[in-house]
Amino acid sequence: MKEPEIIASEWNNHGSTWTNNKQFDEDGYYVVRDLWNVEELYHPLPTERGMLMYWGKELHQFEHIPVEEQVDGSLSRYNHPQYRRIHSRIGKKIEEIIGRKLYTTYFYDRFYLPGQELKKHTDRDSCEISVTVHVSTNLEESWPIWIKTPNTYTDKTKKQLLTKGEERSVVLQTGDGMIYKGCERPHWRHVMPGTLESSLPTNNKELCETDIVMFAHIIDCCDNLDISKSMFMS
Ligand SMILES: [Fe+2]
Repeated sequence: MKEPEIIASEWNNHGSTWTNNKQFDEDGYYVVRDLWNVEELYHPLPTERGMLMYWGKELHQFEHIPVEEQVDGSLSRYNHPQYRRIHSRIGKKIEEIIGRKLYTTYFYDRFYLPGQELKKHTDRDSCEISVTVHVSTNLEESWPIWIKTPNTYTDKTKKQLLTKGEERSVVLQTGDGMIYKGCERPHWRHVMPGTLESSLPTNNKELCETDIVMFAHIIDCCDNLDISKSMFMS
């Protein structure tokens, strides 16, 4: 995404999703420590790279696309069966935290490798509420997620800026989650430390870091839920 597109998306969606969590609405994100048991989430690094699109409930029911469109060289798995139930259970937890009903849409997990970066972007409209859960890492240093907090304006027309939002780095420990307003708040990760050449340390494991990202809509009383709208990538 180019910077003007990010600015437009941020401006257009600013304030469009209200919740009953004041901190979340002020910052556009909210960190939940120990959101989920990582033993339930862990999966070793697969050999494939690109995207695995699961269309069924069985582990062999997927299509492999060799290119990962958002983070070149990484592996992302869409709707992996391991996380089907967890997705809705995490959705329930998030509902309690933000005080609004949610309609969970889809999820993916991504294995990042050294040298890869998640470029600054906002998510598609299907990602009104997103949560990223940090599953595992064998990096020695922390590798934060960055997110920009909202600007404030003098009034609802959003024509005159009052304060500019801040770029904040968020370090998640394994099992922690960050809820954020995906289509409103720009978010990104810098280049992952380490190199592919140095990626087989003494424990003989390739360096990687895994997160799961899950998406949901807020349910309004008059919402006409249309799942076909929800199958965009972030
Ligand atoms: Fe995103």
